[in-house]
Amino acid sequence: MTQGKPQDDEAIIVNGISFSHKDIFDVVDDFYTRIQNDPALKVPFQSVHDWPEHIERLTHFWWARFGGRIYLFNDYNPVAKHFYAGFNRELLTRWLEIFGETLATHLKPDQAKLWKMIAERMGESLSIRNDLLKEEFAALKDKK
Ligand code: HEM
Repeated sequence: MTQGKPQDDEAIIVNGISFSHKDIFDVVDDFYTRIQNDPALKVPFQSVHDWPEHIERLTHFWWARFGGRIYLFNDYNPVAKHFYAGFNRELLTRWLEIFGETLATHLKPDQAKLWKMIAERMGESLSIRNDLLKEEFAALKDKK
């Protein structure tokens, strides 16, 4: 935790495939530039006011999820944040499309394939939990 931000070439191995910290940063940085230029996704992302901070936070998110050492505040709350951001399956499909294109631009095919699969699984999990939260809210409204 106190070792500070990893060097560009510090790497983490996921299922036998190596990702440097710079690989992850380059993908995340470019991905959110593309998001800010996408007519559908730029709308929910208006909640982000500090893009460099968001990119740093999300670089850390993926690095840490891949098993890299924690070097930033590691408390994420994606289910609630996405619910309030208006997450739905249509936006997720577009998100994954742009993410796949970004991965293909920056990474080797085996890296891109693995990360895409992990993102798709996370997206599915977010969708299921988002639907459950929606149902909970609807039930609460019915009680009123
Ligand atoms: C596999 C798909 C996705 C993953 C893995 C993912 C992951 C994340 C994570 C980890 C955060 C930071 C949460 C936190 O700070 O606690 C975040 C923030 C955010 N995500 Fe996603 N996301 C995905 C798809 C989407 C989609 C489809 C939308 C469209 C609504 C979206 C909109 C947002 C917004 C607006 C924020 C910023 C919330 C804020 O801090 O104001 N994400 N995402």
